[in-house]
Amino acid sequence: MAAPRGEFSSRFGFLMAASGSAVGLGNIWGFPTNAASNGGAAFLFTYLILAFALAYPALMAELIIGRYARANAVTALKTISVGEKTRLAAVTVGFVGIITVSFILSFYAIVSGWMIAFFFDPVARLLGMEGLATWLTTDAAVRNSLFVVVFMVLTVFIISAGVKDGIEKWASRLMPSLIIILLLLIVYVLTLPGALDGLRAYLIPDFSRVADPALLVSAMGQAFFSLSLGVGTMLVYGSYISKRENLPTIGSLVALLDVGIAVLAGMLILPAMYVALNNGVQIYDEAGGLIAGPGLIVSVLPALFETMGSIGVLVAFAFFALMTIASLTSSISMLEVPVAYGVEHHGIDRPKAAIVIGAVITVISLIIVFNFDPLFDLVVTYTTEVSQPLLGFAFCIFVAWIWRRNDILEEIKQGDPDVESGLFWKIWPFYVKYICPVAILVVYFQ
Ligand code: PFF
Repeated sequence: MAAPRGEFSSRFGFLMAASGSAVGLGNIWGFPTNAASNGGAAFLFTYLILAFALAYPALMAELIIGRYARANAVTALKTISVGEKTRLAAVTVGFVGIITVSFILSFYAIVSGWMIAFFFDPVARLLGMEGLATWLTTDAAVRNSLFVVVFMVLTVFIISAGVKDGIEKWASRLMPSLIIILLLLIVYVLTLPGALDGLRAYLIPDFSRVADPALLVSAMGQAFFSLSLGVGTMLVYGSYISKRENLPTIGSLVALLDVGIAVLAGMLILPAMYVALNNGVQIYDEAGGLIAGPGLIVSVLPALFETMGSIGVLVAFAFFALMTIASLTSSISMLEVPVAYGVEHHGIDRPKAAIVIGAVITVISLIIVFNFDPLFDLVVTYTTEVSQPLLGFAFCIFVAWIWRRNDILEEIKQGDPDVESGLFWKIWPFYVKYICPVAILVVYFQ
């Protein structure tokens, strides 16, 4: 009853899709602000180590399971399990992943909706529609609901078109645009007065912070969220990779792109904040720390753009286009997880599955919008700080303790025949078996 499965048509297509999933609000907003509040380059240093030592092995675990099973998260975990009990655990972990990613999408869509609203603000101002501009930039449940719906319609539209004609096609268009816009913005902002102070705050390390548990927890959480781990996204994308591909290589390219873009984003956001300071915009909160929460995106940066005169309109437009693109290439990967399950397990056709599941997630988003204070932080905390690390832990256990080692090797050998004699096979199995689960638990209980 399963519908024919899609496949990425090229390595470039997969790289754009997977790095599109990884590069999102977490990179452009989360990483730079986390770095700024945790010792600048000391955070960067710890992040790089954790990303390659812990997040990359976990990413590989998902890609390998996905490509081996060529199935959605639930079926894939079941395929690598032996025995009744582990199969039951597999189904549970798969479902918790699907539910978690759906809730992540429900809050992500709200924030992404703000990005779209702010994207239209400069357009409204250019057209002299000041009233509309004020409405677009004023936080209100009606505005937020409308843009949640707009964002979810875009996400559903891309996912209904399938792997090659939807995900791959759009990621291959959007990701290069994202990189170009990001580079142009960096070059421009670095020419402005005050920018170098920002670069200094970002790049001069405060090494006394490196072993700070708070820094380790933030860096690890950031690395996991940023690589979209634990919830089956990378597993499902892995299931669409051709058997001819060299998995360790493309996995490391995805990690490099993700980390590289986060580091670049820091070279935009922190200099921009200090330019704002130079232009008289308040960038510190009452406690004396840099404003890092929603205030940064919806008030500090727009206030900066306003001080830039007419070019500020263009910069605002480019910046919020960047944020919207980053969100969309991530949201499609989230919606793909439940949709792949619906299509393969229940035989629903793809457009219908995308619309129905997308609609359910939109309703959850709207419930959060109308009950923002009690619900928003709760959903963010449960999904990203509780569920995602535990699922990451479970994926490592499935790969390293339950799945037969020989099957893993045979899977990686397709596309990488010499893997057994290389560095990857010497280190990775040990890492996912011992280091990753222990490290995840230690950080979790911090
Ligand atoms: N990696 C995305 C970001 O950094 O914004 C967030 C994300 C995408 C989390 C997909 C989870 C996910 F399944």
